[in-house]
Amino acid sequence: MRILVLGGDGYLGWPTALHLSRRGHDVGVVDNFVRRQYDHEMGVDSLVPILQLSQRVRLWNEVSGLDLDTYVGDLTDADFVDTVVSRFEPDAIVHFAEQRSAPYSMIDRKHAVYTQVNNVVGTMNLLYAIAEHDPSIHLVKLGTMGEYGTPNIDIEEGFIEITHKGRTDLLPYPKQPGSFYHLSKVHDSHNIQFACRIWGLRATDLNQGVVYGQQTDETTMHPGLATRFDYDGVFGTVLNRFCVQAVVDHPLSVYGKGGQTRGMLDIRDTLACVELALLHPAEEGEFRVFNQFTESFSVLQLAEMVADAYPGKVRIEHVEDPRVEKEDHYYRAAHTKLLDLGLVPHLLGPSTLRDILAVADAHRDRVDPLAIAPTVQWRTTASTLPTASGRPVG
Ligand SMILES: NC(=O)c1ccc[n+]([C@@H]2O[C@H](COP(=O)([O-])OP(=O)(O)OC[C@H]3O[C@@H](n4cnc5c(N)ncnc54)[C@H](O)[C@@H]3O)[C@@H](O)[C@H]2O)c1
Repeated sequence: MRILVLGGDGYLGWPTALHLSRRGHDVGVVDNFVRRQYDHEMGVDSLVPILQLSQRVRLWNEVSGLDLDTYVGDLTDADFVDTVVSRFEPDAIVHFAEQRSAPYSMIDRKHAVYTQVNNVVGTMNLLYAIAEHDPSIHLVKLGTMGEYGTPNIDIEEGFIEITHKGRTDLLPYPKQPGSFYHLSKVHDSHNIQFACRIWGLRATDLNQGVVYGQQTDETTMHPGLATRFDYDGVFGTVLNRFCVQAVVDHPLSVYGKGGQTRGMLDIRDTLACVELALLHPAEEGEFRVFNQFTESFSVLQLAEMVADAYPGKVRIEHVEDPRVEKEDHYYRAAHTKLLDLGLVPHLLGPSTLRDILAVADAHRDRVDPLAIAPTVQWRTTASTLPTASGRPVG
């Protein structure tokens, strides 16, 4: 297959591009490097050093003998998106290229507006480019389990059968997202579903859980192929953050009671799920939703698992929750569609935790302790972020 990976310089896009390339697909990588700019803005850096995209691509060619095409540009630029789609002529497009941090979207008005414009407009441009060049291109779009929120009923995979006043229909599952970032994903889902209905596009919305881990079969082929690892209060995801906190002897910062329960998955399963979606495309006109996670854990459970796996002493500290979210709630979400397609999950156990802790330990000298604390407050319209340089963000 000819596959474009949008956001192919990012945490998940880079290892996905390598994986698909190694599997024999012709892969093109698209990115505008804005993720690297957020690092400059926040005064932080990936825990694991990462090469520039051009260096990574050259190295991949040396290590594997395989080529990756690269296109540098912004998805909010419709002409750029048009040119890439018409030049590369993909069979499928995997779309990772969005601003993906909930806290970043909640810093202030500027960051909220930026997040929604970047994500929604980028996806709109893509939908138009697909519809105009080749509606048979399969769009595999990264959504998030956070689109659903935490309702007091079971979460289904995208759709729920509702009987109302004696009539029954299969309808989109109600969405109660918890940040302007999560809302941008909901808007994307609606726009994609509409495009499938009116233009006959085919799309898979992967409502992904929180990803952990950093190493994949391809990124470990050479240190220069490493993908990024975020641990800071704005971009770090929960389990990777706890592992870094453990190795630098920082208390594991559990927000509030820690009963917040989320679907989670290993980074290697992200690659496997995307590949399964690509190999089993949606039908013409079909908008389908897969819940892409393998297990659910509460934040406190995760902290306890890290504390158990780490050989040294670990303290768990409950800090005031900067977010507006339920700290204790019912959570049961369906996730059978990818398993039905053949996903064999990497479940979270001591050996995976030890691997992540080892990555964190190997780079502990690069940790900026000032970057760890949560700084973005959901309850205010503007948070001021202290950075390593002392320069406020905003
Ligand atoms: N990391 C997770 O735990 C997680 C969980 C659920 C869903 N997701 C989704 O998966 C996708 C990838 O996440 P990630 O963690 O790899 O994020 P990331 O920020 O590391 O990667 C996203 C990449 O997209 C690029 N990008 C952003 N806007 C762009 C634009 N307008 N034009 C071109 N390139 C642009 C960035 O430069 C970056 O390299 C996101 O859509 C995210 O919402 C991630």
